[in-house]
Amino acid sequence: MLKGRSVLLIIGGGIAAYKAAELVRLIKKSGGAVRCILTKAGREFVTPLTLSGLSGEKVFEELFSLTDETEMGHIQLSRSADLVVVAPATADLMAKAANGLANDLASTTLLATDKRVLMAPAMNVRMWEHPATQRNLATLKRDGVTFVGPEDGEMACGEYGPGRMAEPVAILAAIGELLGPKGYPMPAPDPLPELAAPGGALAGKHVLITAGPTHEPIDPVRYIANRSSGKQGYALAEAAAAAGARVTLISGPVNLPAPYGVHVVKVETAREMGSAVSDALPADLAIFAAAVADWRTIDEAGQKLKKDGKAIPPLQLTENPDILARVSRLTDGRPALVVGFAAETEKVIEHATAKRARKGCDVIVANDVSPQSGVMGGENNTVHILSDAGVETLPEMSKDKVARALIDRFATLLKTKA
Ligand SMILES: Cc1cc2nc3c(=O)[nH]c(=O)nc-3n(C[C@H](O)[C@H](O)[C@H](O)COP(=O)(O)O)c2cc1C
Repeated sequence: MLKGRSVLLIIGGGIAAYKAAELVRLIKKSGGAVRCILTKAGREFVTPLTLSGLSGEKVFEELFSLTDETEMGHIQLSRSADLVVVAPATADLMAKAANGLANDLASTTLLATDKRVLMAPAMNVRMWEHPATQRNLATLKRDGVTFVGPEDGEMACGEYGPGRMAEPVAILAAIGELLGPKGYPMPAPDPLPELAAPGGALAGKHVLITAGPTHEPIDPVRYIANRSSGKQGYALAEAAAAAGARVTLISGPVNLPAPYGVHVVKVETAREMGSAVSDALPADLAIFAAAVADWRTIDEAGQKLKKDGKAIPPLQLTENPDILARVSRLTDGRPALVVGFAAETEKVIEHATAKRARKGCDVIVANDVSPQSGVMGGENNTVHILSDAGVETLPEMSKDKVARALIDRFATLLKTKA
């Protein structure tokens, strides 16, 4: 898969550095070459001997090393590979790269490189969710850096949440995606920098986005939910903010940090989401990406239901308010462009076409969420955009890229409505 391609792997100082050794092995096994840069902190977690043994190459550690500068200076090192990968990308390395610092070999290489950069962040959940890290993440994405992970899970420190480094096989897959077969042109830079420019495509617009699932309580400790992770809606909010919009993100319960520069309103139930949407209007563009529960229980129990040997309590359901249909049919204060999402498990286009007509929205973004698609909770998505212009199907992409492509199209459509 990586025959003839070479990777420069920067290993930062985190517990996940031990997984970098496995990544080196996998790159070699895939036919690629790999050179490692180990930070001073990284050396505390993995030895240069392990990395040189696995890569078959010298491991670079020092910026001011005369031998290295004679044989291969830091500039040459930064350009010697087809792709620069940072794994684990520590909070510190991300902060340095986002701010253009260059005070050691790793950060200087990141600043000097003319190659694409892939980062696999790994850190404690609080460090990951800190606004400073999220700000750095947004900056790096705008600068064209690609990210794989982090994943949700239990941390070495015992806490749970996003921050675990993506598994080496997932990083290898991301490397393969970025490099493509030999001779294949490097993918064009992400469109985010243009969108992020002052006076971006959505400058001066208010964009309202819903994301995530809703939880419908059965009793004080139990609820009805669905598998929506909120990733696509959060990515849309980030892309809209990068395009210059003022963004209100109304979010069901999810395990995601607030995107940088976005106003997040947290809700739990469909009814709360409906009220939050009303409060947030007026908006120029409304995107309803949340997986709102269709039904809630008729009578939420005030106390925890007990197993008292009697018959199983029946779960009686009633319909939730239809937020998308309500906003689409507003006669006063309707957003110029209303977008709904259709999560389907079969006959995707047929069902989405019917949904668009039924709800009265301008655009439906349809996706296949059957278990085999891996969309719910996954990193990638394949979407079909249904509008007056017909159906446009985008190729499978990361949810971040889907978000940017969608925001691009919505901005164009919005202009036609002005
Ligand atoms: C035991 C231990 C584990 C650490 N794990 C992480 C981590 O997973 N992610 C992170 O960003 N920083 C972690 N740190 C902090 C970094 O090592 C520290 O910020 C260091 O300066 C990073 O340097 P580097 O970015 O040059 O590798 C850890 C520190 C210690 C002592």
